Amino acid sequence: MVLDVDELINKVDVLPHNFHIAVKAAKLLDDFNVDINELSQTIGSDQALVTQLLKLCNSAEYGFSKKISSVNDAITRLGFKTLKSLVFAIVSKGSLNKKLEGYDLDKGELWRNSLTCAVYSKYLAEITKYKDPELAFTAGLLRDIGKLIVHQYVKSKYKKILKVVESEKISFYEAESQVLGYNHSQIGAKIALKWNFPKVLVETIEFHHNPEIAEGKCEDIKLASIVHVADSMSMMLGAGLGNDGMMYSMNIKILENLGLDATSSGIENLISNMVDLDSQIDSLMSNIG
Ligand SMILES: [Fe+2]
Repeated sequence: MVLDVDELINKVDVLPHNFHIAVKAAKLLDDFNVDINELSQTIGSDQALVTQLLKLCNSAEYGFSKKISSVNDAITRLGFKTLKSLVFAIVSKGSLNKKLEGYDLDKGELWRNSLTCAVYSKYLAEITKYKDPELAFTAGLLRDIGKLIVHQYVKSKYKKILKVVESEKISFYEAESQVLGYNHSQIGAKIALKWNFPKVLVETIEFHHNPEIAEGKCEDIKLASIVHVADSMSMMLGAGLGNDGMMYSMNIKILENLGLDATSSGIENLISNMVDLDSQIDSLMSNIG
């Protein structure tokens, strides 16, 4: 049985434990007058998170010559924005590193794809001079969170969705909407709202497939556009593809809006720069978890 959107959202009421900490830490980190002790206690309340955080920020990726040995140390040396994106990356693994049969994703594939989209989003944010590349990382990481909920319904209607993809030559995402009456970005946004994620993340999750319709509904269209391009690139380059990679399309206009070169040679260039980010993705994969 396929539930309607409200029934579906009502059924999902348990926020994975460690997301509570990420959401609380994110709220504290957004406050310029944050009490560092409260922040430190919030992060420190999850020992596994602390262990992971110290491991990650002491990895070669961050290049600190002096070892970071405490949460307070991490807060002062990493800065709020980086700390927030690392906390989200660490807590997300438990949820995103799952097998999702409905999307034909083996264990680890959605996780790699999400990290890939996160790293690409941060890169695109940097080259387009977006104000907060770390926020772009988190938005890219979480954009497909709705798949965690929708996959079981996709699984039950899989053959029908596939038939629509083939007969109407539309993307898996569009066919998902047509057959189920909703899609993973819509559900992801509703879940993110229910879990008190920052508004900017809720909106990016909702419009990551179609930022062109976000005008007036999304405060940060540039961020949604960055994540859209990163998402498409991660699918085009085959990172943890699953069946959502079918008939995947990128809106070229969005590339132009971001001030990127949308000619074929410009796109080729972009792809080659993104392929160079593989080592960063590998490093995150091996340093988280
Ligand atoms: Fe998506």
